[in-house]
Amino acid sequence: MTKNILLTGGSGFIGTKLSALLIANGYSVSILTRSERKATNDITYYKWSLENNYIDEVSVLKADYIIHLAGENIAEKKWSDKRKKEIIDSREKPIELIYAVLKKNNKTLDAFISASAVGIYGAFTSETICTEETPAANDFLGETCQKWEAATNCIESLGIRTVKIRTGLVLGKNEGFLKKLAPIFKYGFGSIIGIGKQYMPWIHIDDLCTIYLQAIINPNIKGAYNAAVSDDTTNAIFSKALANVYGYSIWLPRVPSFVIKLIMGEMSKIVLTGQRVSSQKIENAGFKFEYPNLEPALINCLK
Ligand SMILES: NC(=O)c1ccc[n+]([C@@H]2O[C@H](COP(=O)([O-])OP(=O)(O)OC[C@H]3O[C@@H](n4cnc5c(N)ncnc54)[C@H](OP(=O)(O)O)[C@@H]3O)[C@@H](O)[C@H]2O)c1
Repeated sequence: MTKNILLTGGSGFIGTKLSALLIANGYSVSILTRSERKATNDITYYKWSLENNYIDEVSVLKADYIIHLAGENIAEKKWSDKRKKEIIDSREKPIELIYAVLKKNNKTLDAFISASAVGIYGAFTSETICTEETPAANDFLGETCQKWEAATNCIESLGIRTVKIRTGLVLGKNEGFLKKLAPIFKYGFGSIIGIGKQYMPWIHIDDLCTIYLQAIINPNIKGAYNAAVSDDTTNAIFSKALANVYGYSIWLPRVPSFVIKLIMGEMSKIVLTGQRVSSQKIENAGFKFEYPNLEPALINCLK
């Protein structure tokens, strides 16, 4: 029988690409969303509202797998205390709602797979290569990811295989952070940000979707996995590669850190700091990157 996969936040950047891959691999896909959407031939939509503690229970009851992608965009607005709470709640609360339905109905799943982020290791720039064993940091992103991942413990306590995909910056066509960056670079105004030495762990969207697919198929995949190419891409390397794809060398001076801090506040840590991560664990589980090198990945997304 066709297995059903329920995606929370499945109408976003990653969810849209992942849904297409899952459908192409013979799964049926359902999506939990806050907005009214009409079902297509391939996708059924279900409503939920975190503010009202409401979830259409049918979505969970018919699911064999759940992939949790929902969450307020961390880079959309300045990190006020209110915004920080929204960022955390929008990741934790969905898991609590799903858990309540599973528990009430004595329902199990083949697996629960949650997005997480490499930000769990903290916003710092050092040569340390973070593996899944590296302790989580106690800055805002580190704490957010810890709470996000810890929220899955209740699902795991039901005997459900639980996976956490610690994702780096996702490269996609006209999507994610490239959507904002690409037009600036395209017209020749690209530049290095801050000291330029901050690491930028990245992954092509196709590779990320394959990791999710493997997490579904392979029952040995459990726990946390880094999902980012394990190279030495820094902001300077990334910026130069992006300019190169558009056929020029960076000519503008670096954007000083204090300017970014003035504009973005605490959120500037997203662009001014970064961590190096290892992809060894997911590769040991059998995953192979289709895009292990930055420039071909950028060319695929931008040309
Ligand atoms: N893209 C990246 O580079 C990246 C990197 C690391 C980690 N991640 C994580 O991966 C997940 C998916 O990323 P994405 O790039 O696909 O994000 P996205 O395009 O912003 O999509 C996230 C989806 O979550 C839902 N959502 C947003 N706020 C919500 C709220 N308050 N309550 C319930 N649902 C809410 C929205 O769906 P509806 O509007 O349909 O409800 C939205 O489409 C996120 O958790 C993100 O933090 C992404």
